[in-house]
Amino acid sequence: MKSPALFEDLNVLVTGAGKGLGRAIVEELLARQDRFPRIRIALSARSEADLTELAYLARKSGVETLTLPGDLARDPVSGIKRVRQEWGRLDVLIHSAGVGRFGDFGTYTPEDVEFVTRTNVEATFLLLQETFNLMKKQPPKGGLRGQIQVITSVAADKPFEHSALYCMSKYAQRGLLEVMRIPAAKEQVRILDVRSGAALTPMWGQVESGMEARMMKPSDVAGAMVDALLLDARATIETLTIRPIGGDI
Ligand SMILES: NC(=O)c1ccc[n+]([C@@H]2O[C@H](COP(=O)([O-])OP(=O)(O)OC[C@H]3O[C@@H](n4cnc5c(N)ncnc54)[C@H](OP(=O)(O)O)[C@@H]3O)[C@@H](O)[C@H]2O)c1
Repeated sequence: MKSPALFEDLNVLVTGAGKGLGRAIVEELLARQDRFPRIRIALSARSEADLTELAYLARKSGVETLTLPGDLARDPVSGIKRVRQEWGRLDVLIHSAGVGRFGDFGTYTPEDVEFVTRTNVEATFLLLQETFNLMKKQPPKGGLRGQIQVITSVAADKPFEHSALYCMSKYAQRGLLEVMRIPAAKEQVRILDVRSGAALTPMWGQVESGMEARMMKPSDVAGAMVDALLLDARATIETLTIRPIGGDI
């Protein structure tokens, strides 16, 4: 019997799908359906309106979706469980949901610390744990049990001024991914750490036009991430560092 192909009937969950980089990845997947026949995409974010709009676009291009509105800081795992119930397996997790608060080191409040660490650190840990535990029990498909891509940041290996909290949370994500790769390699689960530099998304709020011109577009990052998904199962890209050609902002 022919073994199932790696990129056919792919079940994908994208967190942070409503805006910015997560949304750009969904759009990229929809645009490349010729490479992903019968792809299904679960969409997760806090704002239900964003997900409903994106699900409508997906449906128009013939792609089945599942919308999973909710705050990962409160409940990081039920989306994964829902995908398993509805679709049986999860082939790809793209974790883009993340937050930042920026300022002088001395001015962060305990609430700032809790806000950033609950989403970027705690929820990321529990979400990836649930995902890995699911993927390792799945039979391999085309040589892989699953793929996990997490958008950390260039701030996961480089300090930026006014970014103590954000850098701490991104270094933590990087550390988790590096440790997870040890069991993941044995279980045929591929893990990609996406160290993105500045891309123009709602996370940045209002930016001046001079600065905008120096930033990447979300589609630059999304395109490279989808290329990495398409790599043959015998190989893995562990870190994808992508930044504006003129350097970090
Ligand atoms: N943009 C950049 O320049 C850049 C550079 C490096 C790394 N990154 C990282 O890339 C990721 C995406 O950033 P972005 O620029 O696309 O941000 P964004 O434009 O603010 O979009 C973030 C998305 O994540 C969702 N989200 C945030 N916290 C969530 C939570 N607790 N539960 C559920 N959903 C949540 C948001 O949902 P709602 O809008 O519904 O709240 C939104 O859909 C983040 O991890 C960020 O740190 C971004």
